[in-house]
Amino acid sequence: MKLAVIVGSTRQNRLTLKQAKWVQAEAEKMDDVEVKLLDLQDFPMPFLDEPISPRYNPDRKIDDQVKPWLEAMAEQDAFVFVTPEYNHSIPGVLKNAIDYLTSELNHKPATVVSHGTVGGARATVQLKEILSESRAVVIPQQVAFLGLSEGVDDDGKLSDTLAANPYGPAAALKTALTELKWYSDALAKARNA
Ligand SMILES: Cc1cc2nc3c(=O)[nH]c(=O)nc-3n(C[C@H](O)[C@H](O)[C@H](O)COP(=O)(O)O)c2cc1C
Repeated sequence: MKLAVIVGSTRQNRLTLKQAKWVQAEAEKMDDVEVKLLDLQDFPMPFLDEPISPRYNPDRKIDDQVKPWLEAMAEQDAFVFVTPEYNHSIPGVLKNAIDYLTSELNHKPATVVSHGTVGGARATVQLKEILSESRAVVIPQQVAFLGLSEGVDDDGKLSDTLAANPYGPAAALKTALTELKWYSDALAKARNA
């Protein structure tokens, strides 16, 4: 499985980066998984202003600034979107990046890892809906993380207390990644058939 971990915040001093590093490190422990961190800071894009919805535009002309993002996403088999909650939703920069996607997500599984005062749960609900409409196969499992600032250090290492909690974020992430891999293998087989 080629897995992209997407950093959904580009804010200065963002906490999402360390959450994404945590996800990346856990995914790298799995067999048969190649992980790439896709940081939206590295993919600066204008706000989408294409004349027709990208999915329905056979003559689509893609902005040169957007191409690296689409190419990076097209290479992947599965996605973990790591997002904070901004005003009960996802950051505009993440929504804009998703609005450019078409075939890159098609028939591929995706999950969400979020944080915020209620674990980013409201952002997750919205993001799952957005990803589903964007043709990803959104899996049921997700991770809503409370207490990220103290729970994970800047290198993405989870605190020992949280790591040991059988109902904590480590357990939730393990389940989500295991399920993602299951769907990824099944869907890759189906896409290739
Ligand atoms: C514009 C903005 C809106 C926010 N709205 C919410 C919110 O609705 N719910 C919440 O739990 N946290 C909210 N927060 C707090 C963020 O979850 C917190 O700052 C988090 O660290 C943001 O992720 P980031 O540091 O990766 O950008 C908001 C933060 C910002 C900057």
